[in-house]
Amino acid sequence: MNIRRIAINTGGGDAPGLNAVIRAATLTALENGWEVLGIRRGYMGLLHDEVDGEPGMVPLSAERVRGITHLGGTILGTTARGNLFGLEVRQSDGTWGDRDPSADIMGRFAEMEIDALIAIGGDGSLKIAHRLFLKGLRVVGVPKTIDNDLSATDMTFGFQTAVDVATEAIGRLHSTAEAHQRVMVVQVMGRHTGWIALESGLAGGADVILIPEIPFSAERIAEKIMERDRARRRFSIVVIAEGAVPAGGLPSFVEGTGRYGGIGDRLAVELEALTGKDTRCLTLGHIQRGGSPVPYDRNLALRFGAAAVHAVERGNFGCMVGLQGNHVRSVPLGDAVTDIKRVPIDDEVVRTARRMGVSFGD
Ligand code: F6P
Repeated sequence: MNIRRIAINTGGGDAPGLNAVIRAATLTALENGWEVLGIRRGYMGLLHDEVDGEPGMVPLSAERVRGITHLGGTILGTTARGNLFGLEVRQSDGTWGDRDPSADIMGRFAEMEIDALIAIGGDGSLKIAHRLFLKGLRVVGVPKTIDNDLSATDMTFGFQTAVDVATEAIGRLHSTAEAHQRVMVVQVMGRHTGWIALESGLAGGADVILIPEIPFSAERIAEKIMERDRARRRFSIVVIAEGAVPAGGLPSFVEGTGRYGGIGDRLAVELEALTGKDTRCLTLGHIQRGGSPVPYDRNLALRFGAAAVHAVERGNFGCMVGLQGNHVRSVPLGDAVTDIKRVPIDDEVVRTARRMGVSFGD
């Protein structure tokens, strides 16, 4: 189809690799002779001429995307809140309102003569992209989340970097745990799924891995710690996903917010009481999302960026690019945003860990 100008935006939490997607999509589109516009901070730059004192949209040239493959964050900025069809919409004065601006968005795309949008985002942002597609926007989605919990793609970029950071942290905690004969609880990200906890816990040699998919019992974890103690392994490392839940209990949130947090600290107090062992908790938080993407994430992100442009070339709108096996393919956005991808409780990695003596607290 006849494309002259496309736009790219990034929405939701950042993930290492976003800039690599922007670079690959831009360079591939420029090769086609297209013009590329970057929309700043999700859709804000489309709706407002200026965002934070800078133009809402930036022309993306080869020069503008030079040397960004290895950079974390996103050169376009992002908005973590931005449910355009629900409640939370950022107004021009910076406050959050509740007006549905989708008609304005569609109007702006027409006015700016933008032929297609490449929307890079997680679950929330891709749902928005899907809604815009249903309203007639030509859109291709690119999946992004460090949690790796989007269905329809085997892998999201950013995940391997997060696992790398968490594994390194677990490794460093081992020496202190051993020197002080302590229990160290490490809380990693993962609201609904335990992919980061599972992969970093296994790679880092954790003794206990707690994931949202397998409710845990503090007593069972204490038993495991004391069993190790009797075998003269007088320290233990417990890796816990922020969304992990005690059996029969509820997830833990930072008081007064909808944000996950606090489960590691709560568990540390409980384990200290149950085992009598000195216990500390470390919450890794956003350090897992920051910094330079590992090579795997860079390459996956570059492949996704190029594939998104190929989908635009083919007129394959309303799709999301994703990894299936070792192939980048496109799947309907509608399918991609319906289910989240949880760790199956009989997952081969879970079974491998169990057979090596790792406890899942159940
Ligand atoms: O979905 C990615 C993620 O990093 C989650 O693992 C985490 O709970 C959440 O985002 C944190 O979001 P925010 O940046 O809004 O604190």
